[in-house]
Amino acid sequence: MANVVVVGSQWGDEGKGKIVDWLSEQADVVVRFQGGHNAGHTLVIDGVSYKLSLLPSGVVRGKLSVIGNGVVVDPHALVAEMERLSAQGIDVTPDTLKIADNATLILSLHRELDALRESAASGTKIGTTKRGIGPAYEDKVGRRAIRVMDLANLKTLPAKIDRLLAHHNALRKGLGEPEVDPKALYDELASVADRVLPFMDTVWALLDKKRREGSRILFEGAQGALLDNDHGTYPFVTSSNTIAGQASTGSGLGPGAIDHVLGITKAYTTRVGEGPFPTEQINEIGEFLGTRGHEFGVVTGRKRRCGWFDAVLVRQTVSVSGINGIALTKLDVLDGLDEIKICVAYELDGERIEHLPASQGAQMRVKPIYETLPGWKESTQGARSWADLPAQAVKYVRHVEELIGAPVTLLSTSPERDDTILVQNPFQD
Ligand code: GDP
Ligand code: IMO
Ligand code: MG
Repeated sequence: MANVVVVGSQWGDEGKGKIVDWLSEQADVVVRFQGGHNAGHTLVIDGVSYKLSLLPSGVVRGKLSVIGNGVVVDPHALVAEMERLSAQGIDVTPDTLKIADNATLILSLHRELDALRESAASGTKIGTTKRGIGPAYEDKVGRRAIRVMDLANLKTLPAKIDRLLAHHNALRKGLGEPEVDPKALYDELASVADRVLPFMDTVWALLDKKRREGSRILFEGAQGALLDNDHGTYPFVTSSNTIAGQASTGSGLGPGAIDHVLGITKAYTTRVGEGPFPTEQINEIGEFLGTRGHEFGVVTGRKRRCGWFDAVLVRQTVSVSGINGIALTKLDVLDGLDEIKICVAYELDGERIEHLPASQGAQMRVKPIYETLPGWKESTQGARSWADLPAQAVKYVRHVEELIGAPVTLLSTSPERDDTILVQNPFQD
């Protein structure tokens, strides 16, 4: 019996939602442990598409779904997402969803601050999702956040609001924005309390109990390793840790409970927002990948930047996330190309290097060194067995494994749930 962590190994949107949904058939509990509704996870089941941002993908199968303490929770987004799913026939109830009492809330002042910073003429534009993610995590680390449990004890809220607004109103004054009225913030929180509290639970204790009972726990990462606040392309990152180690911190289940880390990896590379992207193709190849792969953001609708597979980056994230195996997705998008390039190393100021340097300037300057492989003309779309793959596609997969130092244990060949090839079951590690 193994507990599995699923994490993105690139800049997000690798197809985590599809793979978590597929794996969740075998799981008892699905847990989100970081990020918030900046995530956009797509599931396609018999032609019907489900888009999840804050809720764990396990809700679609009615599995016990858990939002851990490491997640930042926008109560309005939570309610709206449950309503959207309900309209699609999926009911989320307090029996199937548990939210950690010690999770941080995203408030409207966080969303406003995120948008203000992104539209400011000065400062570094990150290209965030403007969901208030960064400002909410800043308040958490700054020890002034309002948390889910605070909604259960409204009489303690005014003092917490004062502490929070002492910081925010000073900041807002500096930005020329009107101050937030403490009473308005209190009313906002009081109005959502009844919608959120039925889901509140002591998540660390629940997960500990489940583990002792022998339940299978599946952790669903959001974003990807290159958006990790420590290990990613800082400052063009998100404000949480997105690598597998966070599954433990962000849920309260100690690291000994994690048996297998499954990295989700796209057969090429995409990124949304600003920041370095060594293998980006601003040309007809990038257009081809974006069009064939429908590379538009789930959350913001922005066009994703596209480029060749970068083995240097994935090799590095295999290491920092402790990835045991890879689910390679969207191989079908490469069908029909005459040749396919893979970045195997970089050139930095005339020298060959085998990793992504930490400095922002160096990350912008690295030039990819490519190997070129022949493409394949046959379709891999919807393939459900290894034997259905053209020989060149198999060679591509084998070469990727060799370059990144991890085996491909799952292969995805379309957005549909069942168009998935199992090589080695991560739950049977
Ligand atoms: P996530 O954020 O990692 O869950 O990924 P997104 O849902 O944001 O983006 C992945 C997109 O690719 C979604 O539209 C999926 O339906 C789609 N997708 C997933 N796997 C495959 C695949 O193997 N082939 C194709 N063509 N599309 C896929
Ligand atoms: P999933 O889970 C891709 C990116 C944003 C921006 C940066 C910071 O669907 O893979 P934030 O709003 O988090 O402060 O934005 O991170 N970003 C994502 N990119 N997939 C995601 O999630 C992302 N979540 C955030 O575009 O560059
Ligand atoms: Mg996504």
